[in-house]
Amino acid sequence: MKENIKTTFSSAFEEDVHIGLSTYPKYLLSKYIYDKKGDKLFQDIMNLPEYYLTNCEFNILKDHTSEITEIFKSDKGFDLIELGAGDGKKTKLLLKELVAQKIHFNYLPIDISENVLLELEDSLKKEIPEVQVKIQQGTYFKTLEKLSDYNTRKKVILVLGSNIGNLLHTDAIDFLKHIQIAMSDEDMLFMGFDQKKDPEIILEAYNDKTGVTAAFNKNLLARINSELGGNFNLETFSHWETYDPESGTAKSFLVSREEQNVSIESLGIDIHFDAWETIHTEISQKYDDAVVEWLAEEAGLKVTHSFVDEKKYYKNYIFKKQ
Ligand code: AVJ
Repeated sequence: MKENIKTTFSSAFEEDVHIGLSTYPKYLLSKYIYDKKGDKLFQDIMNLPEYYLTNCEFNILKDHTSEITEIFKSDKGFDLIELGAGDGKKTKLLLKELVAQKIHFNYLPIDISENVLLELEDSLKKEIPEVQVKIQQGTYFKTLEKLSDYNTRKKVILVLGSNIGNLLHTDAIDFLKHIQIAMSDEDMLFMGFDQKKDPEIILEAYNDKTGVTAAFNKNLLARINSELGGNFNLETFSHWETYDPESGTAKSFLVSREEQNVSIESLGIDIHFDAWETIHTEISQKYDDAVVEWLAEEAGLKVTHSFVDEKKYYKNYIFKKQ
């Protein structure tokens, strides 16, 4: 068996797939969902009626625009740094208000996808040409290292979309701590956290009737097929979602409907699946004030403001250094 164990990998994707599918229980990392097709499927998810997160956060930003920009602004101007900017639809609400109020700021959107950034830059040029924008491609991890370079004036760091929900609490604290270390006393972190609510509503958001979320989840397998020479038959796997209202954790799985072997050419391995064996693919954590305050405390941050939508489904918090 030893000669089958690969020790050198040509990409992090290869290595992570190898580790995740050789472990029991099997897992794959959700960050790998987002190739070109995954980006598009996530756009489709954001337009689903079941996926309330996007609309709730949009409404919060729309209903509290001037209050929020008032908190952000600073005499010397500021740098608005957005991690995981996406299409910027929600952020544009703030950008328009900041421009209208003639507040001095630079907008620095960062995203893993170069494609997404170029489109965002282009749309800003057309819709809000007054905005000084400088795009930056990179992972969260790389970006966090660069954050402290912006230290000549106030910075406001935006993380929208409850993206933190993909992280286990320990990793979320780590992430927040990295941000905190890069912050000065006047800096602010503005972040979205999807809230605990009726479990039925949460389940539906990750288990839409049209199967978009299933396709999004299965894109992990599609990507292994196309990039690593896998032969996953996507139809033999079912998307399965669970939500534990006690921990507030929504979990996604792919379940093998039959016993089968899947080969992955570039890894030189065959993966065995028992009938009904699972691959855990994603968590989408839900929060309440107590958990958010605990995460902040552990990371050396404190909550200074929060904004909620009408249905109390979603909250945006502002944090400062302790
Ligand atoms: C982009 C991580 C916020 O977990 O709600 C949407 C990703 N997964 N539907 C989320 C996702 C399934 C999304 N985040």
